[in-house]
Amino acid sequence: MTERTPSDHRSILFVCLGNICRSPMAEGVMTHLATEAGDAHRWTIDSAGTGSWHEGERADPRARETAARNGVELTSRARQAGPEDFSSFDLILAMDRSNLDDLARVQAEAGADATATLRLFREYDPEAEGADGDGRDVPDPYFGVADGFDEVYEMVRRTCQRILEVEAPS
Ligand code: 4NP
Repeated sequence: MTERTPSDHRSILFVCLGNICRSPMAEGVMTHLATEAGDAHRWTIDSAGTGSWHEGERADPRARETAARNGVELTSRARQAGPEDFSSFDLILAMDRSNLDDLARVQAEAGADATATLRLFREYDPEAEGADGDGRDVPDPYFGVADGFDEVYEMVRRTCQRILEVEAPS
């Protein structure tokens, strides 16, 4: 069993479907912002997918290119989220409502020490306050056009900035 992190530390897991587009961007941007703030040692930041198709793969080249253009390196390798993540992370953030539903099922399989808080990523998006429906999702850019990655990048950047402010360890 993984030890829960002490209170001067915060652990956060970003989860999308494939773990090659949206959640690696969130992991990379959050790590970048925490590092820039001189605060990286106080955070554990990771990402995973609800599916396992891309296990072991690096982020999609389009996601890496978009992040790199903004000075952010994506180093993740895809993995599938599992029940154990609910006992090792403080906060698990789903990139869309479908991911949230899938994660709620994984959470239900987890044991009594599964104390992670599960929420939607865009609950922290300052431009999505009061949003409903699609407005609560980070759109999946995988099957879309190239500039879908730029839109996701901007959304992820402002949302991670807010997360860093409101979820910082005390
Ligand atoms: P992600 O995007 O969930 O943001 O990583 C996707 C990546 C791969 C697939 C779907 C979405 N796929 O079907 O393989």
